[in-house]
Amino acid sequence: MRGGGPVSAAILAIETSCDETAAAVVSDTYDVRSSVVASQIDLHAAFGGVVPELASRAHMELITGIVERALDEAGVVGPDLAAVAVTSGPGLVGALLVGIATAKALGFGWGVPVVGVNHLEGHLASAFLADRTVPFPQTALLVSGGHCMLTRLPRPGTYELLGETVDDSIGEAYDKVARYLGLGYPGGPVLDRLAASGQDTLHFPRPMLAEGYTFSFSGLKTAVVNYVRAQPDFVVEDVAASFVAACMDVLCTKVRRALEEFGDPAIAIVGGVAASPVLRARAQAVADEFHSTLLIPPQALATDNAAMIGVAGWQKFLALGPSDPRFGPEPDLRLAFS
Ligand code: KG4
Ligand code: ZN
Repeated sequence: MRGGGPVSAAILAIETSCDETAAAVVSDTYDVRSSVVASQIDLHAAFGGVVPELASRAHMELITGIVERALDEAGVVGPDLAAVAVTSGPGLVGALLVGIATAKALGFGWGVPVVGVNHLEGHLASAFLADRTVPFPQTALLVSGGHCMLTRLPRPGTYELLGETVDDSIGEAYDKVARYLGLGYPGGPVLDRLAASGQDTLHFPRPMLAEGYTFSFSGLKTAVVNYVRAQPDFVVEDVAASFVAACMDVLCTKVRRALEEFGDPAIAIVGGVAASPVLRARAQAVADEFHSTLLIPPQALATDNAAMIGVAGWQKFLALGPSDPRFGPEPDLRLAFS
């Protein structure tokens, strides 16, 4: 058994909402005893984005082996678990269905309760993977492939929406720009890498910079595409650096605005784009300026994973108990804002 000693209460968490097949075992103290992520990036790269039907089929092939590995690495057997947590939405319906069906079958077979978890609550709960004693109230920036929103959490599990994107999410903008430049999928890591050796010489627009907490990235994406079309001899590193700088200026301006207005003791940055080293460094500088604690999950737990679903699963299970066994996939699930 890894880590030795008795197994504390543990949840098995499953995440299959998009193109990562993931399972993790998380203790009631948010100790990640195992976290296994099988990325389908290679499968979808040729198409420049996720192909839903291919994703569902790949999840079906992978899920059993991934769950077995997560249990094995944690040294836990199914019937000893406190619960099985699984992402119930938002996401691709077929992909979600594979995770939910697996969780229900395992839970039924082991006699263990099953909890459906909102993927967005999973990302927000990943702040606890940065620091178990997360301070509240908290301002949280959720930046992923599907979402870009600023929320406030007066206490765990309570969400107030400050603002969100009116069009593309930021991860989507990264992915579309990368696809246009022929850099493959996903766009985030490759654009970050190129940006590191380029300069912000192109001064792309910073959309909605002055507008409260609302985001928009579609115009910025179009500005990049227009520039590249008009300048066939463009320097890709400078395009990447200028695009990343525009994105970061927007994100950090809005975070700074929220810290100015609310003065929260903690700022969480979560979601796939929080894996960006540029965002990590710039967010730290903003947090320092306001003497706020920056909560940012380790890079591997910023992009989709099941450990974050395990943390959110624990919180939901302890607050509300098991989910109604009839629960199913909710592709458009939102956060319940107060
Ligand atoms: O949270 P996530 O794994 O999936 C969703 O819930 O959407 O986020 C995926 C997004 C993709 O758009 C990807 O391009 C972006 O996160 N991403 C990054 C980095 N790694 C992944 N963006 C910027 N820098 C990165 N290093
Ligand atoms: Zn996600």
